Amino acid sequence: MEATATRVMRLGLAGLGVGSSMFLKAVDVFPNARAVAAADVRASARSAFEQQYQGRTYDSVAALCADPDVDVIWVATPNQFHCEHAILAAEHKKHILCTKPMALTVEECERMCAAAERNRVQLLCGQTYSMSRDIQTMHQVVQSGELGRLIAINCWLYTDWLLKPRVGEEVDESLGGGVVYRHGPHLFDTVRLLGGGNLRSVRASVGRWMPERPCPGNFSAYLEFADGTPATIVYNGYGYFDTSELTWGIGNRMYSDEERIAVRRALRSGAVDNEAAKEGMRFGAGGSDATSRGSLQSDGQRNNWFGITVASCERGDVRQSQAGIYVYGDDGRREIAVTGEPYGLADVREMHAFLTQGTPITHDGRWATATLEVGTAIVESARERREVMLHHQGGSL
Ligand SMILES: NC(=O)c1ccc[n+]([C@@H]2O[C@H](COP(=O)([O-])OP(=O)(O)OC[C@H]3O[C@@H](n4cnc5c(N)ncnc54)[C@H](O)[C@@H]3O)[C@@H](O)[C@H]2O)c1
Repeated sequence: MEATATRVMRLGLAGLGVGSSMFLKAVDVFPNARAVAAADVRASARSAFEQQYQGRTYDSVAALCADPDVDVIWVATPNQFHCEHAILAAEHKKHILCTKPMALTVEECERMCAAAERNRVQLLCGQTYSMSRDIQTMHQVVQSGELGRLIAINCWLYTDWLLKPRVGEEVDESLGGGVVYRHGPHLFDTVRLLGGGNLRSVRASVGRWMPERPCPGNFSAYLEFADGTPATIVYNGYGYFDTSELTWGIGNRMYSDEERIAVRRALRSGAVDNEAAKEGMRFGAGGSDATSRGSLQSDGQRNNWFGITVASCERGDVRQSQAGIYVYGDDGRREIAVTGEPYGLADVREMHAFLTQGTPITHDGRWATATLEVGTAIVESARERREVMLHHQGGSL
């Protein structure tokens, strides 16, 4: 570990897809991080990376991990590879930034944590909206106790997730497809952060109501913390109502109302070439336009919200506002301003602070294992129509 805050952190990207296009924007603006290498099975992505970053490229993650001039591997390959690629990185003594979901099962998460611990490297599993400045500010207000004890958390997120271009693994539940695994972690992490991390149980239902997308498209979950505090999460990704209609247009929306009608018709008639459409959004395929419109806005604007989240305390509520967060209390409502930043910057900053100052990683593998467990418990609860107890809660935050 180098005790200089200006040391440049050398990143190697495993996977140059839609996610990486967004995360690279954070790397671009962080003064002490560089994307120096990348691995992808697509030659077009590799040559685009070479051109844009003058970096080294590999056609396998194993080769990337063997690069001696990389400090941190950023795992952004499809969900089913996160475990394998994170363990490869750990075995090559690289620190790891892993996107969500951490993996497919708690057992995979545990193997990833064990590999990181065995090889004495850091495993940071962030990239969820809980790391955004507004949710972090809500957390600070709740933690401060100014409104008394936390009594409930309620989240609503309605999106057009299922209308967006989706390739095989994204709609295959066994590979972590569908909204519980792909979008759920943002909300599970947010709820866990605000409520202190230690959930006791989950009762949920999951819907799969869009034949063109044979995967979970909606869920409703009731979660209870160990201290009895309740939380609810309602998610709907079918693209009819959109929560951004209630949040000043800020949201996680790709299509306008008119575009949704056309896309839905095209999906129903089988006219959408998902592979080609997804390819057009990826790194190196002119994807910047689509990614800035779609999934998450990464340009530092505060428009990458994940629906409406209200944290209620004994003597007030906290939620996001157009310019930051609202704090409602006995003396009325006040607003705390919060500025935006590129998505993923919090992860880059946290890993860099560890490398240069030894600051402990908070969004660690144990934390993310607990978040992953919420998703698997939601699916199990829905299948068995019963409350599911959680056994892997906790972590660093
Ligand atoms: N945190 C976020 O907000 C966020 C946003 C988008 C995507 N993601 C995550 O990023 C991951 C990828 O999703 P995506 O939408 O970018 O998918 P994608 O298909 O666009 O990107 C995956 C990339 O990995 C490459 N790849 C696939 N198998 C590989 C292998 N074995 N070795 C090397 N490269 C390989 C593909 O060619 C592709 O470029 C998922 O886990 C997803 O959940 C996270």
